[in-house]
Amino acid sequence: MNGYFEQLKTAWLGRDVRFLQETESTNRDCDVAAAAGVTEGLVICAETQTAGRGRLGRTWFSPQHVNLYFSILLRPAVDPVAATTLPLVVGLAVAETLMESFPALAPKIKWPNDIWIQGRKVCGILCEMQLTGERVGAVVAGVGINVNLTRALFPEELRASATALQQEVGHTVERGVLLASIMNHLEPLYCAWQQQGFAPLAERIQRVDALRGQPLRMHLVGNPVEGLGAGIQADGALLIRLSDRTLQAIYSGEAQTIRMLD
Ligand code: BTN
Repeated sequence: MNGYFEQLKTAWLGRDVRFLQETESTNRDCDVAAAAGVTEGLVICAETQTAGRGRLGRTWFSPQHVNLYFSILLRPAVDPVAATTLPLVVGLAVAETLMESFPALAPKIKWPNDIWIQGRKVCGILCEMQLTGERVGAVVAGVGINVNLTRALFPEELRASATALQQEVGHTVERGVLLASIMNHLEPLYCAWQQQGFAPLAERIQRVDALRGQPLRMHLVGNPVEGLGAGIQADGALLIRLSDRTLQAIYSGEAQTIRMLD
């Protein structure tokens, strides 16, 4: 990937990197590496995926040579509950990279693990945890970013809800440079998160919270919840203000904006 090693400033993250032409899923490849005992910091990046994994059992659209599909092998020294905030940490690294690289863009984090630009999804994050007994053995953080995908190449069903960086900034983007920059942002964020927890980062996430003030609907088992997005709590939960003015903390699920549904 052009420019990757020239731009990489990390001590350990992404130094061991494997660039593949084609794979089933980079998350799967990282799972295998994790099970084989590879140390944290490995990044596996592919030009295309034949079965890219999305959240909630979906597949991730992975056409070749235009986007970024990569997975990072991490072994955080935190408990499994604390590890559930990692997608927001990775999301913050992506959002801060985009803000620095393209100051005119206003990327937002859509809790718990998407990045939006102008209400359209540009990046999805899928973190998968491997437990060793009751402890975190590894977390594979998979990131898919629509980079140089032109509008015509988007499948019909994604055209209204997804975008790509090229469409937003008006020129093609060097993927290797972008990947290195994400590593440069993530390494210090990840170290701070491991040492001090999520709470100090929550403030930075609040500034780019796509859901704040938005009418939301959450599909919780047997109990759909509607209200207004009211920020991200210090433990990573999404806060929703209900019609009776009380706050409900949501720890998992997918928030849909009512505007998106209608
Ligand atoms: C989502 O559903 O929004 C999450 C999508 C995550 C896709 C990325 S692409 C690279 C990595 N490998 C996978 O199989 N999935 C993730």
